[in-house]
Amino acid sequence: MSDQHAANAQFTPVISATGLFTPDQKITNEELVASFNAYVDKHNAEHADAIAAGSLDALTYSSVEFIEKASGIKARYVLNKDGILDPDTMCPQLPERPNEELSILAEIGVKAARQALDSAGRKAEDVDAVLVACSNLQRAYPAIAVEIQDELGIDGFGFDLNVACSSATFGLQTAADYIRSGSARSVLVINPEICSAHLNWRDRDSHFIFGDVATAILVEAKDLAPAEHWEILGTKLKTKFSNNIRNNFGFLNRTHPETRDDPDKLFKQEGRKVFKEVVPMVAAMILDQMDRLGITSDELRRLWLHQANAGMNRLIAAKVLGHEATADESPTVLDSYANTSSAGSIIAFHQHSKDLQAGEKGLICSFGAGYSAGTVFIQKAA
Ligand code: COA
Repeated sequence: MSDQHAANAQFTPVISATGLFTPDQKITNEELVASFNAYVDKHNAEHADAIAAGSLDALTYSSVEFIEKASGIKARYVLNKDGILDPDTMCPQLPERPNEELSILAEIGVKAARQALDSAGRKAEDVDAVLVACSNLQRAYPAIAVEIQDELGIDGFGFDLNVACSSATFGLQTAADYIRSGSARSVLVINPEICSAHLNWRDRDSHFIFGDVATAILVEAKDLAPAEHWEILGTKLKTKFSNNIRNNFGFLNRTHPETRDDPDKLFKQEGRKVFKEVVPMVAAMILDQMDRLGITSDELRRLWLHQANAGMNRLIAAKVLGHEATADESPTVLDSYANTSSAGSIIAFHQHSKDLQAGEKGLICSFGAGYSAGTVFIQKAA
């Protein structure tokens, strides 16, 4: 290797490995709709007089057919199924842990991180930094990333960042920039998502959307990377303010107790507006980056898109590739995992990347609340 090559490799970011933790409990659409409809019956019976008097609207049934057709979602993994499916509770039951115990968000993040480290043959001392990038953080501080860093025995630094569904790609660019600048040589980006705890399971419009999972990505300098790795060719981030996906949960809620438990303290969206506004924004961003990086549609072997809605992905992929994408070109995990916020595109990459050949290029892309979007173009090396 020439000196120039060695120097370049030292500051070239790559993805060395990924990890995935999947909860062992799963809820199918059929189970979910049965529980939701039982809640509807119960609610309407309890409020029969008000409904008959016209002072309250009756709730309407959810439907398996609607969910699958509108979103492509068939099931979701969750940390606690019983609490969600109990029509009197409709919320996962995750008991509070003493401070001396590992937090639940950290626990699932550690599981994914260990898998990524093992897969790359790395030990704690090889890692310089831990970024926890996800949509809902369990507490204000200390950072979950610092807790994970401690649990794994990593020397260095860690912090949390939240850009909702785009958190993973924002974490990836941050990690890549550390490698490019030389301020770190090996960075773990972890996406623990307990979406079931910020989803309103009583809201017919959105009760089917989310699931729980954790993913991890090990970003390293190319000169350290294992033989099989993915070179990061270019990254780009974008945000544009919108109220169409919003969660108003926060530390100020207790200062106005009269609205503390309102539905806007959980996930809430104008789904149709999101669909219409985000698709063109993301497609234009991807095409712009391809132009900048000199990558043509023909060269893009696979798209690992954010997993929110099958229809959104179909439209974005068609605009980027110039034709309707096959399942091989734009794989989905929505059918089994549902939307797992920041982790979705990383699950797709983790499960559908081993078959690519050296030299083939692909795109990890996320989008969501903010609005926010991130693109990470990669090329397989071996
Ligand atoms: N079961 C049966 N019918 C339902 C239903 C349910 N669970 N939820 C809504 N409907 C009905 C609505 O009442 C509406 O009926 P109407 O036409 O009589 O008024 C109809 O289905 C269409 O509802 P709408 O909300 O417009 O559905 P949609 O086609 O936009 O699909 C989403 C809803 C959420 C799947 C879709 O908008 C979406 O995925 N958007 C992308 C945004 C996203 O997923 N963001 C996540 C964060 S990134």
